[in-house]
Amino acid sequence: MRTRPLKVALLGCGVVGSEVARIMTAHAEDLAARIGAPVELAGVAVRRPGKVREGIDPALITTDPTALVKRGDIDVVVEVIGGIEPARGLITEAFAHGASVVSANKALLAKDGAALHAAAARYGRDLYYEAAVAGAIPLIRPLRESLAGDKVNRVLGIVNGTTNFILDKMDTTGAGYQEALDEATALGYAEADPTADVEGFDAAAKAAILAGIAFHTRVRLDDVYREGMTEVTSADFASARAMGCTIKLLAICERAADGGSVTARVHPAMLPLSHPLASVREAYNAVFVESEAAGRLMFYGPGAGGSPTASAVLGDLVAVCRNKLGEATGPGESAYTNLPVSAMGEVVTRYHISLDVADKPGVLAQVATVFAEHGVSIDTVRQQSRPDFQDTASDGGEASLVVVTHRAPDAALSGTVEALRGLDTVRGVASIMRVEGE
Ligand code: HSE
Repeated sequence: MRTRPLKVALLGCGVVGSEVARIMTAHAEDLAARIGAPVELAGVAVRRPGKVREGIDPALITTDPTALVKRGDIDVVVEVIGGIEPARGLITEAFAHGASVVSANKALLAKDGAALHAAAARYGRDLYYEAAVAGAIPLIRPLRESLAGDKVNRVLGIVNGTTNFILDKMDTTGAGYQEALDEATALGYAEADPTADVEGFDAAAKAAILAGIAFHTRVRLDDVYREGMTEVTSADFASARAMGCTIKLLAICERAADGGSVTARVHPAMLPLSHPLASVREAYNAVFVESEAAGRLMFYGPGAGGSPTASAVLGDLVAVCRNKLGEATGPGESAYTNLPVSAMGEVVTRYHISLDVADKPGVLAQVATVFAEHGVSIDTVRQQSRPDFQDTASDGGEASLVVVTHRAPDAALSGTVEALRGLDTVRGVASIMRVEGE
C-alpha cells in the first residue's frame, strides 16, 4: 500500500459534510485498505469558522474555499455546499489545479452538467455525483456502469422524500395537504420554505440527471416538465382508492416508442397499488428502471439525510481515489445519442378526470363527444348523483362524473379538459390526474 496519503478538501461542513469527515476518520483504515493508500482530510471550507465541529482539527478549517482548491496538492475536492455559485467556480478551479471532484449538488449538475463534464475531461479529472440523486441509493453508478451494455427505456422514480412523506400521510391518515406538510415540518423532513420539494424543483433536477445518464443524451433542468403536489386533495386520494391506486409524486424519464426522442417530467400521478413504487412509504425514495435486457429493476432506500448522503459521497471518494492511484479516470459524460427532449404535449399518458356535471339527459353524450373530438378514447366512466345537489331546480341537480382515459398524447388530453371546461353542463373540473405505472 502506498504510504503517502491522498489529500481531500471538503467544501461545506453541514449535515452531510460533517458526516463525511466523521466517517473518513472513523473508517480511515478500511478506506485506506480499499483504496490502496490512506486518505487525509487536508482542509475544510466553511462559512462559520467559530462553530464547534467535533472530530475535526480546527487547524483544517478555512473560510477561503478558493485558496483551498487552488493549493495544488489536493487530490479530491468533495463539494457539499450546494447551489450554483460559488460551487460551480470552485469545481472548475479544482479541476484546473489537479483535483478530481465528488459532488452532491443536483441543482448544479442538472443546470450545468455538460460544461462541468467537459471541464473534467479537459483536465483529465473525475466528476462523480452519486449523492446528487436519491441520497444513499446507488443509481448513477448502476445506470452508468452496470447497465452500460443494456438499453434503458424508462426510469420511474420517487426521488423526493419530503413529498413522499406528505403524500403517504394524506393517504394513510386522511390528512389534508397542509396538515401533512405541518407534520413533515415538525419532524424535520420539510424545510421552513418547502417550495423546492413540494413544487417539484428538487425532483426535476434529479430527473434531468437520471434521464441524461439513462438515455446517453443531454437533459437540462429546463427540459423537464414540472408540476408540484400542493393541489393534491383528500378527494383525489378517495378517487385513487376507488381505482385501486395511490398517489405519488413521480419523476418519469422515458424513451419515445419510436426511439427518436426522450421525455422527462415530474408531477403527481395515480399509481396502481400493485406497482412496486406504491409501497414506498414515508420519506423513502425508490427508482424503478425498465431496460431491454435486464427487465424491471428497483432501487430503494433513504433518499436524504446526513449519513445516507455521506455514504454515497464516500463511495464516490473511494472510486475517485482508486482512479487517481491507477492514473486513470472513470466514465465521464456519455451523451452520444444526442436524442432531443420532447415537450410534455407529446408524452403519451392517461388521465383520470373528475367532473361536476348537470344531471340531465344528453350530458354524458356531450362529454363523450368532446373526448372523441380530441381523439381521446375513454377507458371507464363512473357516474354518481350528488345528493347534496339534488333539488327541485329545473336542471335536475348535479352528478359527479369520473372518466379514466386510455393512453393519448398529453396535448390531446389537456385540450379535452379545456374543452370540457367550456361546456355549460360541466359545472366544474374537480380534479385531473395522470395515471401511470401500468
Ligand atoms: N429535500 C430532498 C428530499 C432531499 O426531501 O428528498 C434532498 O434532495
